[in-house]
Amino acid sequence: MVSIMSVAHVDSDVSDIEALKREAGITACDFVKNGMKLGLGTGSTVRYTVLEIGRRMAEEGLSVVGVPTSEATRQLAESLGIPLVTLADAGTLDLVIDGADEFDAEFALIKGGGGALTREKIVAQSSDGMVVVADDSKQVECLGAFDLPIEILPFEWRRTSERIGAICAGAVSLRGGEEAPFVTDNGGWILDCRFGALIDDPATLESTLLEIAGVVEVGLFVGICDAVVMASTGGIITLVNPSGRLA
Ligand code: A5P
Repeated sequence: MVSIMSVAHVDSDVSDIEALKREAGITACDFVKNGMKLGLGTGSTVRYTVLEIGRRMAEEGLSVVGVPTSEATRQLAESLGIPLVTLADAGTLDLVIDGADEFDAEFALIKGGGGALTREKIVAQSSDGMVVVADDSKQVECLGAFDLPIEILPFEWRRTSERIGAICAGAVSLRGGEEAPFVTDNGGWILDCRFGALIDDPATLESTLLEIAGVVEVGLFVGICDAVVMASTGGIITLVNPSGRLA
């Protein structure tokens, strides 16, 4: 059973989605302690977390180091004066805070809406805990309404796409299109795969997709997320995974 760590009130007139993201992003900083080595996620929600970490460092003497999950987050963190290190230097991280495109009752995630899924998974797998920040539109009964992002190599990408298409009943679309494909920080491309809200065994699907040559990484995160700080107009709820490392 999911435990609810805390519920913080959000003003009822704050219905603006950006305000909810901001509340979630800032509340997640309750997990941040002095001296931590942090994974810094990517996206419009966790951006507020990074901003708050920067504020606490500047105004409250917080001392942390970070590993960014994208070039965008690297630039933001550097602009805020957050010291950055590599995983090679840091070893295991204490915590990563990141966004998600969907999360289910088992705390499985779809990530990669911003295209940073590979670095995000590398950092998440190198962390002792993972906290997700999201608004309640990301909470789903079954994953897959959000098209699953898969990072692939550009080399002979059509073959990779066809093999994924043999598994995915819906459309498999090259993000950005053939004329101007979206290019990840790793030089990869992204296929957005329309499985529909039918992914009831994300771990098996992840393994199956990873067997396809040309697939770099799949935007399914299973057994990694320990808590979700979720914003809704009713307040901020922190859902703690009872099987997770923060329970
Ligand atoms: C980046 O690649 C993604 O995994 C994001 O973390 C995810 O798309 C959530 O982003 P938003 O907070 O902007 O919705």
